[in-house]
Amino acid sequence: MGKTMPNNDAFSLSGKTFLIAGGTRGIGRAISLRFAQAGANVIAIYVRGKKAAGSLQDLAREQELAIDCLCADLSRPAGLEKVSAYLKEKDIELSGLVYCAATGVHKPAGEFTAREIKWVFSLNIEAYIALVNLLLPYFKEGSSIIAISSKGATRAVHEYGLVGASKGALEAYSRHLAAELAERKIRVNILTPGTVRTEAWDALPDSERRLADAEARTPLGRLVTVDEVAYSAQFLCSDAASGVVGLSLLVDGGAGIME
Ligand SMILES: NC(=O)c1ccc[n+]([C@@H]2O[C@H](COP(=O)([O-])OP(=O)(O)OC[C@H]3O[C@@H](n4cnc5c(N)ncnc54)[C@H](OP(=O)(O)O)[C@@H]3O)[C@@H](O)[C@H]2O)c1
Repeated sequence: MGKTMPNNDAFSLSGKTFLIAGGTRGIGRAISLRFAQAGANVIAIYVRGKKAAGSLQDLAREQELAIDCLCADLSRPAGLEKVSAYLKEKDIELSGLVYCAATGVHKPAGEFTAREIKWVFSLNIEAYIALVNLLLPYFKEGSSIIAISSKGATRAVHEYGLVGASKGALEAYSRHLAAELAERKIRVNILTPGTVRTEAWDALPDSERRLADAEARTPLGRLVTVDEVAYSAQFLCSDAASGVVGLSLLVDGGAGIME
């Protein structure tokens, strides 16, 4: 039997370029940094948080990481055109997309206004569909798309109905993409973090109690970190995951197996 040479570089992202939608804060920021540390060129998209984008850009410069922050509102045609112009101008070929951008309105079901429904769905799912449409011609063979979901896609979470429904749509669309794009050698997977302490929690009601409850329910005895989510994203975007298609990977410290 022939000897199989170990390929220790299979987890490397060297020579690859990724677009991280929502890549300047929280989980997306950790993914941008992890990917760049693994050798990738990263385009981190944001919209309002100039300070967060500036601090990521400074850190990248200090650490000599190839991260470029691009301000583009993905929920608007002008934002998508900006992404398209950027890719054309720099003559970029992509190795993948991580769709981390999301927004939320947290209320009991029955209280959502038409404007709130449009606001949440336009970024969490419509922009994802439009962005993938736009990026398809730029993806190289072997590219990888990750949709960042949340447990509200499959479980009832307190005052999370609207975001949960948009994440459910994100997951359903990703599974269809996974089936349809596989023959073009583009892999699509879903990555679902458990509860992760990020700035996004600051805007939520009763956040400290809810984070403490989540921690108490987690077999690991603590919440998972942004870096733990980022390592899983690296795996899914690396050649080490070349056979992984349509997976829904849960990184939640075991919270999901509890009653
Ligand atoms: N934190 C958790 O406990 C948790 C759990 C499960 C799943 N998730 C999911 O993980 C992802 C990241 O969560 P997070 O807590 O790290 O979120 P976050 O801190 O709120 O980050 C959201 C990112 O999306 C960007 N963004 C927002 N609106 C945009 C738009 N219209 N166009 C382009 N970019 C836009 C933001 O940019 P600006 O800074 O410019 O606004 C920011 O970079 C989300 O999909 C979330 O649903 C989070």
